[in-house]
Amino acid sequence: MKIGKTLVSAEEIDAKLAELGAQISQDYEGKDLLLVGILKGAFVVMADLARHITIPVEFDFMAVSSYGSSTKSSGVVRILKDLDNEIADRHVLIVEDIVDTGLTLHYLLKNLRVRKPASLKLAALLVKDGIERPPLDVHYEGFHIPPEFVVGYGLDYDGKYRNLPYVAVVDSVE
Ligand code: IMP
Ligand code: MG
Repeated sequence: MKIGKTLVSAEEIDAKLAELGAQISQDYEGKDLLLVGILKGAFVVMADLARHITIPVEFDFMAVSSYGSSTKSSGVVRILKDLDNEIADRHVLIVEDIVDTGLTLHYLLKNLRVRKPASLKLAALLVKDGIERPPLDVHYEGFHIPPEFVVGYGLDYDGKYRNLPYVAVVDSVE
C-alpha cells in the first residue's frame, strides 16, 4: 500500500476545525453540550475540534464497525460499544471522521433519536462527493473530497495510518 497525494493538509484541517469550533461554541452558547465521537476514526477530529470549542462540553464515545480490512462499506453496522450515559433531554453533537455511504450515520441517528435527546446534530470532517446516500443533514462539515479511499487524521487502511496528521489518498493497494 502506498500513500498518494495529500488531499487536505494539517494546516487546512486546523483552520477548518477552528472555524467549526467557533460556530459550535456560538450555536450552543448557554447549552449543555455532549460530543459523541464515533470510534475509532473520529478520535483525532474529536480531540482537535473540542479544543477549538470554548463552551464547556462533555465527551462520550460509541464504537461501531462498518468496515473490515477492505476498502468497501459492508452496509452492516454493529455497535461494539454503546454510550456510557443516557442522552435524554441533552444536546448531542455526533462527531465523525467521514461520510461515505452514510450508512453508519443513518443508522446511528436513528438509533440515538429514539433516546429522545433535546437536539441531535452531526459534525463530520470529510464528506465524499459523488456517492449515492440516504438524505443526511451534516450540520458542521469540513471538506468535500472526491470518492476515493483516503487515510490519515483518524482514517485507517487495515488499521494503520490513523496517525498521519493530514488526509491523503491511497495510491496502490496490494
Ligand atoms: P459510511 O457508513 O460508508 O459512511 O462510512 C463508515 C465508516 O467507514 C467511516 O466512519 C470511516 O471510518 C470508514 N470510511 C469511509 N470511507 C473511508 C475512507 O476513504 N478511508 C478510511 N475509512 C473510511
Ligand atoms: Mg470509522
